[in-house]
Amino acid sequence: MKKIVTLTALLCTVGISMCIAQTPKTTKGLKDYYDKYFYMGVAVAPQNLNGPQADLILNQFNSLTPENAMKVGPIHPRENEYNWRDADSIVNFAQHHGLRVRGHNLCWHQQNPDWWFKDSTGKQATKELLYKRLHDHIFAVMKRYQGKIYAWDVVNEAIDDNPDNFLRNSLWYQICGDEFITKAFEYAHEADPKAILFYNEYNTERPEKMERTYKLMKKLVDAKVPVQAIGLQAHWSIYEPSAAELRTTIQKFASLGLKVQITELDISIFPWEKERRALRPGETFEYTPELQQKQIDKYKEVFAVLRENKKYVTGVTFWNISDQYTWLDQYPVRGRKNHPLLFDEKLQPKKVFYEVVNFKK
Ligand code: XIL
Repeated sequence: MKKIVTLTALLCTVGISMCIAQTPKTTKGLKDYYDKYFYMGVAVAPQNLNGPQADLILNQFNSLTPENAMKVGPIHPRENEYNWRDADSIVNFAQHHGLRVRGHNLCWHQQNPDWWFKDSTGKQATKELLYKRLHDHIFAVMKRYQGKIYAWDVVNEAIDDNPDNFLRNSLWYQICGDEFITKAFEYAHEADPKAILFYNEYNTERPEKMERTYKLMKKLVDAKVPVQAIGLQAHWSIYEPSAAELRTTIQKFASLGLKVQITELDISIFPWEKERRALRPGETFEYTPELQQKQIDKYKEVFAVLRENKKYVTGVTFWNISDQYTWLDQYPVRGRKNHPLLFDEKLQPKKVFYEVVNFKK
Protein backbone atom coordinates (compact mmCIF):
# COMPACT_ATOMS: atom_id res chain seq x y z
CA MET A 1 0.00 0.00 0.00
CA LYS A 2 2.74 2.39 1.05
CA LYS A 3 4.58 1.63 -2.20
CA ILE A 4 1.47 2.42 -4.26
CA VAL A 5 0.95 5.73 -2.45
CA THR A 6 4.60 6.71 -3.00
CA LEU A 7 4.40 5.73 -6.65
CA THR A 8 1.18 7.73 -7.10
CA ALA A 9 2.79 10.73 -5.40
CA LEU A 10 5.80 10.44 -7.68
CA LEU A 11 3.67 10.21 -10.81
CA CYS A 12 1.63 13.22 -9.67
CA THR A 13 4.75 15.25 -9.09
CA VAL A 14 6.13 14.35 -12.52
CA GLY A 15 2.71 15.05 -14.05
CA ILE A 16 2.41 18.42 -12.37
CA SER A 17 5.88 19.53 -13.33
CA MET A 18 5.21 18.46 -16.92
CA CYS A 19 2.05 20.56 -16.86
CA ILE A 20 3.94 23.55 -15.55
CA ALA A 21 6.60 23.12 -18.20
CA GLN A 22 3.96 23.17 -20.94
CA THR A 23 2.01 26.20 -19.75
CA PRO A 24 2.81 28.98 -22.22
CA LYS A 25 2.40 31.74 -19.66
CA THR A 26 5.22 33.68 -18.15
CA THR A 27 3.94 35.64 -15.16
CA LYS A 28 4.77 38.96 -16.76
CA GLY A 29 4.38 39.74 -20.45
CA LEU A 30 6.21 42.02 -22.86
CA LYS A 31 3.53 44.68 -22.28
CA ASP A 32 4.31 44.68 -18.54
CA TYR A 33 8.08 44.82 -18.88
CA TYR A 34 7.69 47.65 -21.38
CA ASP A 35 4.80 49.51 -19.75
CA LYS A 36 6.93 52.63 -19.19
CA TYR A 37 8.11 52.55 -22.81
CA PHE A 38 5.65 51.72 -25.58
CA TYR A 39 2.63 49.64 -26.53
CA MET A 40 3.54 46.09 -27.42
CA GLY A 41 1.52 44.72 -30.30
CA VAL A 42 1.15 41.74 -32.58
CA ALA A 43 -0.30 41.06 -36.03
CA VAL A 44 -3.16 38.58 -35.95
CA ALA A 45 -5.72 36.67 -37.99
CA PRO A 46 -9.16 35.69 -36.60
CA GLN A 47 -8.04 32.08 -36.16
CA ASN A 48 -5.45 33.21 -33.60
CA LEU A 49 -8.10 34.51 -31.25
CA ASN A 50 -8.94 31.39 -29.29
CA GLY A 51 -7.13 28.65 -27.38
CA PRO A 52 -3.46 28.87 -26.42
CA GLN A 53 -2.64 31.56 -28.98
CA ALA A 54 -5.30 33.85 -27.51
CA ASP A 55 -3.88 33.17 -24.02
CA LEU A 56 -0.44 34.12 -25.25
CA ILE A 57 -1.72 37.29 -26.92
CA LEU A 58 -3.53 38.40 -23.77
CA ASN A 59 -0.57 37.57 -21.58
CA GLN A 60 1.98 39.43 -23.70
CA PHE A 61 0.46 42.18 -25.81
CA ASN A 62 -1.75 45.24 -25.47
CA SER A 63 -2.17 46.13 -29.14
CA LEU A 64 -3.35 44.23 -32.24
CA THR A 65 -2.89 44.76 -35.97
CA PRO A 66 -4.96 42.69 -38.41
CA GLU A 67 -2.36 40.91 -40.53
CA ASN A 68 -4.57 40.85 -43.65
CA ALA A 69 -8.21 41.38 -42.68
CA MET A 70 -8.36 45.14 -43.28
CA LYS A 71 -6.43 45.28 -46.54
CA VAL A 72 -8.53 46.50 -49.46
CA GLY A 73 -8.73 43.09 -51.19
CA PRO A 74 -10.03 41.10 -48.22
CA ILE A 75 -12.31 43.80 -46.77
CA HIS A 76 -13.72 45.20 -50.04
CA PRO A 77 -13.84 42.24 -52.45
CA ARG A 78 -16.44 43.72 -54.84
CA GLU A 79 -17.34 47.30 -55.58
CA ASN A 80 -20.60 47.23 -53.66
CA GLU A 81 -19.65 44.65 -51.09
CA TYR A 82 -17.61 44.82 -47.94
CA ASN A 83 -16.56 41.75 -46.01
CA TRP A 84 -16.47 42.87 -42.39
CA ARG A 85 -16.41 39.47 -40.75
CA ASP A 86 -12.69 39.00 -40.07
CA ALA A 87 -11.98 42.64 -39.27
CA ASP A 88 -14.98 42.75 -36.91
CA SER A 89 -13.86 39.65 -35.07
CA ILE A 90 -10.43 41.16 -34.41
CA VAL A 91 -11.83 44.52 -33.31
CA ASN A 92 -14.45 42.82 -31.10
CA PHE A 93 -11.81 40.66 -29.45
CA ALA A 94 -9.69 43.76 -28.80
CA GLN A 95 -12.66 45.68 -27.37
CA HIS A 96 -13.64 42.79 -25.16
CA HIS A 97 -10.14 42.49 -23.70
CA GLY A 98 -9.19 46.16 -23.62
CA LEU A 99 -6.50 46.03 -26.32
CA ARG A 100 -5.84 48.82 -28.77
CA VAL A 101 -5.95 48.30 -32.52
CA ARG A 102 -3.81 49.68 -35.35
CA GLY A 103 -5.59 49.65 -38.70
CA HIS A 104 -3.59 48.25 -41.62
CA ASN A 105 -3.97 49.58 -44.32
CA LEU A 106 -5.93 51.97 -46.56
CA CYS A 107 -3.84 52.51 -49.68
CA TRP A 108 -1.23 50.08 -51.03
CA HIS A 109 -0.06 48.67 -54.37
CA GLN A 110 -0.61 45.08 -53.20
CA GLN A 111 -3.54 42.93 -52.08
CA ASN A 112 -6.10 45.02 -53.93
CA PRO A 113 -9.27 43.46 -55.36
CA ASP A 114 -9.36 42.83 -59.15
CA TRP A 115 -11.96 45.49 -59.80
CA TRP A 116 -10.12 48.30 -58.01
CA PHE A 117 -8.08 49.78 -60.89
CA LYS A 118 -10.68 49.08 -63.63
CA ASP A 119 -13.83 50.88 -64.71
CA SER A 120 -17.15 49.18 -65.48
CA THR A 121 -16.08 48.41 -69.07
CA GLY A 122 -12.83 46.76 -67.94
CA LYS A 123 -10.61 49.67 -68.99
CA GLN A 124 -8.12 51.25 -66.63
CA ALA A 125 -9.86 53.50 -64.09
CA THR A 126 -9.40 57.25 -64.37
CA LYS A 127 -7.84 59.32 -61.62
CA GLU A 128 -11.26 60.78 -60.74
CA LEU A 129 -12.80 57.34 -60.38
CA LEU A 130 -9.90 56.15 -58.23
CA TYR A 131 -10.16 59.14 -55.92
CA LYS A 132 -13.89 58.57 -55.51
CA ARG A 133 -13.23 54.92 -54.67
CA LEU A 134 -10.44 55.76 -52.29
CA HIS A 135 -12.60 58.37 -50.56
CA ASP A 136 -15.60 56.06 -50.20
CA HIS A 137 -13.46 53.13 -49.09
CA ILE A 138 -11.63 55.15 -46.45
CA PHE A 139 -14.86 56.63 -45.11
CA ALA A 140 -16.62 53.25 -44.97
CA VAL A 141 -13.79 51.47 -43.16
CA MET A 142 -12.65 54.23 -40.83
CA LYS A 143 -16.18 55.24 -39.81
CA ARG A 144 -17.11 51.65 -39.00
CA TYR A 145 -14.28 51.39 -36.49
CA GLN A 146 -14.14 55.03 -35.36
CA GLY A 147 -13.20 55.19 -31.68
CA LYS A 148 -12.05 51.54 -31.74
CA ILE A 149 -8.98 51.94 -33.94
CA TYR A 150 -6.58 54.54 -32.66
CA ALA A 151 -4.05 54.58 -35.51
CA TRP A 152 -4.08 53.79 -39.22
CA ASP A 153 -1.43 52.93 -41.78
CA VAL A 154 -2.89 55.21 -44.42
CA VAL A 155 -0.35 54.75 -47.20
CA ASN A 156 1.92 51.72 -47.35
CA GLU A 157 5.18 51.29 -49.28
CA ALA A 158 4.99 54.11 -51.84
CA ILE A 159 8.76 54.32 -52.38
CA ASP A 160 10.45 52.37 -55.15
CA ASP A 161 12.86 49.51 -54.47
CA ASN A 162 15.32 50.89 -57.01
CA PRO A 163 17.40 53.64 -55.33
CA ASP A 164 17.59 55.52 -58.65
CA ASN A 165 13.85 56.16 -58.58
CA PHE A 166 11.80 57.99 -56.01
CA LEU A 167 8.24 56.71 -55.90
CA ARG A 168 7.19 53.21 -56.90
CA ASN A 169 5.78 52.92 -60.40
CA SER A 170 2.54 51.37 -59.13
CA LEU A 171 -0.88 51.72 -60.72
CA TRP A 172 -1.59 54.33 -58.08
CA TYR A 173 1.39 56.32 -59.27
CA GLN A 174 0.78 55.71 -62.98
CA ILE A 175 -2.81 56.92 -62.77
CA CYS A 176 -2.60 59.65 -60.12
CA GLY A 177 1.04 60.72 -59.84
CA ASP A 178 2.30 61.44 -56.33
CA GLU A 179 -0.93 63.24 -55.39
CA PHE A 180 -2.62 59.98 -54.33
CA ILE A 181 -0.58 60.03 -51.13
CA THR A 182 -1.86 63.45 -50.12
CA LYS A 183 -5.44 62.53 -51.02
CA ALA A 184 -5.34 59.38 -48.91
CA PHE A 185 -4.20 61.32 -45.84
CA GLU A 186 -6.74 64.08 -46.39
CA TYR A 187 -9.63 61.64 -46.71
CA ALA A 188 -8.46 59.69 -43.66
CA HIS A 189 -8.19 62.81 -41.54
CA GLU A 190 -11.64 63.90 -42.63
CA ALA A 191 -13.13 60.47 -41.89
CA ASP A 192 -11.69 60.23 -38.37
CA PRO A 193 -9.95 63.41 -37.16
CA LYS A 194 -8.82 61.69 -33.95
CA ALA A 195 -7.02 58.76 -35.55
CA ILE A 196 -3.22 58.93 -35.67
CA LEU A 197 -2.26 58.69 -39.32
CA PHE A 198 0.87 56.80 -40.40
CA TYR A 199 2.95 56.44 -43.49
CA ASN A 200 4.34 52.86 -43.33
CA GLU A 201 7.50 51.68 -45.10
CA TYR A 202 10.20 48.96 -45.11
CA ASN A 203 14.01 49.03 -45.25
CA THR A 204 13.81 52.55 -43.84
CA GLU A 205 17.12 52.14 -41.98
CA ARG A 206 19.16 51.55 -45.14
CA PRO A 207 20.78 54.94 -45.65
CA GLU A 208 19.63 55.50 -49.22
CA LYS A 209 16.05 54.39 -48.53
CA MET A 210 16.02 56.49 -45.40
CA GLU A 211 16.95 59.56 -47.47
CA ARG A 212 14.14 58.94 -49.94
CA THR A 213 11.61 58.24 -47.19
CA TYR A 214 12.73 61.36 -45.36
CA LYS A 215 12.31 63.37 -48.56
CA LEU A 216 8.72 62.14 -48.90
CA MET A 217 7.86 62.78 -45.27
CA LYS A 218 9.37 66.25 -45.33
CA LYS A 219 7.41 67.09 -48.44
CA LEU A 220 4.18 65.96 -46.76
CA VAL A 221 4.91 67.73 -43.49
CA ASP A 222 5.91 70.98 -45.25
CA ALA A 223 2.69 70.85 -47.29
CA LYS A 224 0.71 70.38 -44.04
CA VAL A 225 -0.65 67.03 -45.15
CA PRO A 226 -2.22 65.41 -42.06
CA VAL A 227 0.38 62.73 -41.39
CA GLN A 228 1.43 62.41 -37.76
CA ALA A 229 3.67 59.39 -37.62
CA ILE A 230 5.88 56.99 -39.49
CA GLY A 231 5.76 53.22 -39.27
CA LEU A 232 9.09 51.47 -39.67
CA GLN A 233 7.99 48.00 -40.73
CA ALA A 234 11.14 46.41 -39.32
CA HIS A 235 11.28 43.24 -41.38
CA TRP A 236 14.85 42.98 -40.27
CA SER A 237 17.42 40.19 -40.15
CA ILE A 238 20.30 39.15 -37.96
CA TYR A 239 22.52 41.15 -40.38
CA GLU A 240 20.74 44.52 -40.38
CA PRO A 241 20.09 47.27 -39.40
CA SER A 242 23.00 48.39 -37.25
CA ALA A 243 22.28 50.21 -34.00
CA ALA A 244 23.61 53.43 -35.54
CA GLU A 245 21.37 53.13 -38.61
CA LEU A 246 18.29 52.54 -36.48
CA ARG A 247 19.11 55.41 -34.13
CA THR A 248 19.71 57.83 -37.01
CA THR A 249 16.47 56.78 -38.72
CA ILE A 250 14.30 57.30 -35.64
CA GLN A 251 15.87 60.63 -34.83
CA LYS A 252 15.71 61.90 -38.38
CA PHE A 253 11.95 61.30 -38.59
CA ALA A 254 11.43 62.63 -35.08
CA SER A 255 13.14 65.86 -36.19
CA LEU A 256 10.16 66.40 -38.52
CA GLY A 257 7.84 66.25 -35.50
CA LEU A 258 6.66 62.73 -36.37
CA LYS A 259 6.06 59.96 -33.86
CA VAL A 260 7.63 56.62 -34.74
CA GLN A 261 6.34 53.09 -34.37
CA ILE A 262 7.88 49.76 -35.21
CA THR A 263 4.92 48.26 -37.02
CA GLU A 264 5.88 44.79 -38.35
CA LEU A 265 8.85 43.53 -36.39
CA ASP A 266 10.52 40.22 -37.12
CA ILE A 267 14.22 39.37 -37.19
CA SER A 268 14.84 36.81 -39.91
CA ILE A 269 17.69 34.34 -39.62
CA PHE A 270 18.38 34.83 -43.36
CA PRO A 271 19.65 37.87 -45.26
CA TRP A 272 16.87 40.07 -46.68
CA GLU A 273 15.70 39.30 -50.21
CA LYS A 274 12.91 40.96 -52.12
CA GLU A 275 12.08 38.59 -54.97
CA ARG A 276 10.30 35.32 -54.41
CA ARG A 277 12.34 32.26 -55.35
CA ALA A 278 12.36 28.50 -54.94
CA LEU A 279 14.56 26.72 -52.44
CA ARG A 280 17.95 26.07 -54.04
CA PRO A 281 19.24 22.49 -54.28
CA GLY A 282 21.18 21.72 -51.11
CA GLU A 283 20.07 24.92 -49.39
CA THR A 284 19.66 24.25 -45.67
CA PHE A 285 17.73 26.20 -43.11
CA GLU A 286 18.68 24.89 -39.72
CA TYR A 287 18.22 27.18 -36.72
CA THR A 288 21.73 26.62 -35.40
CA PRO A 289 23.01 27.80 -32.00
CA GLU A 290 25.16 30.35 -33.88
CA LEU A 291 22.13 31.82 -35.63
CA GLN A 292 20.19 31.84 -32.35
CA GLN A 293 22.98 33.79 -30.71
CA LYS A 294 23.18 36.29 -33.59
CA GLN A 295 19.44 36.77 -33.30
CA ILE A 296 19.69 37.37 -29.56
CA ASP A 297 22.41 39.97 -30.15
CA LYS A 298 20.36 41.77 -32.81
CA TYR A 299 17.14 41.78 -30.77
CA LYS A 300 19.00 43.10 -27.71
CA GLU A 301 20.67 45.81 -29.73
CA VAL A 302 17.42 46.86 -31.37
CA PHE A 303 15.46 47.04 -28.11
CA ALA A 304 18.24 49.01 -26.42
CA VAL A 305 17.99 51.64 -29.18
CA LEU A 306 14.19 51.66 -28.98
CA ARG A 307 14.25 52.17 -25.22
CA GLU A 308 16.82 54.93 -25.62
CA ASN A 309 14.37 56.66 -27.97
CA LYS A 310 11.19 56.15 -26.00
CA LYS A 311 10.38 59.84 -26.36
CA TYR A 312 9.67 59.23 -30.04
CA VAL A 313 8.80 55.53 -30.24
CA THR A 314 5.19 54.95 -29.19
CA GLY A 315 4.61 51.34 -30.17
CA VAL A 316 6.31 48.11 -31.20
CA THR A 317 4.29 45.48 -33.09
CA PHE A 318 5.55 42.00 -33.94
CA TRP A 319 4.50 40.55 -37.29
CA ASN A 320 2.94 37.26 -36.11
CA ILE A 321 2.77 35.66 -32.71
CA SER A 322 5.28 32.84 -32.65
CA ASP A 323 7.59 30.72 -34.80
CA GLN A 324 4.71 28.24 -35.15
CA TYR A 325 3.50 30.42 -38.00
CA THR A 326 5.28 33.32 -39.64
CA TRP A 327 4.70 34.77 -43.11
CA LEU A 328 8.49 34.38 -43.55
CA ASP A 329 8.04 30.58 -43.81
CA GLN A 330 6.65 31.29 -47.29
CA TYR A 331 8.30 34.54 -48.26
CA PRO A 332 10.60 35.09 -50.05
CA VAL A 333 11.31 31.33 -50.24
CA ARG A 334 8.33 29.01 -50.06
CA GLY A 335 8.83 26.25 -47.51
CA ARG A 336 11.99 27.66 -45.92
CA LYS A 337 11.24 27.62 -42.21
CA ASN A 338 12.19 30.84 -40.45
CA HIS A 339 12.31 31.57 -36.70
CA PRO A 340 12.04 35.32 -36.46
CA LEU A 341 9.96 35.85 -33.31
CA LEU A 342 10.29 35.71 -29.52
CA PHE A 343 8.12 32.59 -29.01
CA ASP A 344 8.89 29.15 -30.40
CA GLU A 345 6.82 26.68 -32.38
CA LYS A 346 5.20 25.48 -29.14
CA LEU A 347 4.38 29.06 -28.10
CA GLN A 348 7.04 28.99 -25.40
CA PRO A 349 9.25 32.03 -24.78
CA LYS A 350 12.63 31.54 -26.47
CA LYS A 351 15.92 32.48 -24.85
CA VAL A 352 15.79 35.70 -26.84
CA PHE A 353 12.52 36.62 -25.08
CA TYR A 354 14.24 36.64 -21.70
CA GLU A 355 17.06 38.75 -23.13
CA VAL A 356 14.62 41.32 -24.51
CA VAL A 357 12.84 41.76 -21.19
CA ASN A 358 16.00 41.74 -19.12
CA PHE A 359 16.94 45.41 -18.76
CA LYS A 360 17.06 48.08 -16.10
CA LYS A 361 13.94 50.29 -16.24
C1 XIL B 1 1.91 40.10 -45.43
C2 XIL B 1 1.13 39.06 -44.64
O1 XIL B 1 1.82 38.76 -43.46
C3 XIL B 1 0.92 37.81 -45.46
O2 XIL B 1 0.04 36.91 -44.81
C4 XIL B 1 0.35 38.17 -46.85
O3 XIL B 1 0.28 37.01 -47.64
C5 XIL B 1 1.19 39.23 -47.53
O4 XIL B 1 1.31 40.36 -46.67
N1 XIL B 1 4.46 44.54 -45.50
C6 XIL B 1 3.17 44.79 -45.08
C7 XIL B 1 2.29 43.66 -44.65
O5 XIL B 1 2.78 45.97 -44.94
O6 XIL B 1 0.93 43.91 -44.93
C8 XIL B 1 2.73 42.36 -45.27
O7 XIL B 1 1.94 41.31 -44.70
C9 XIL B 1 4.20 42.13 -45.05
C10 XIL B 1 5.01 43.22 -45.69
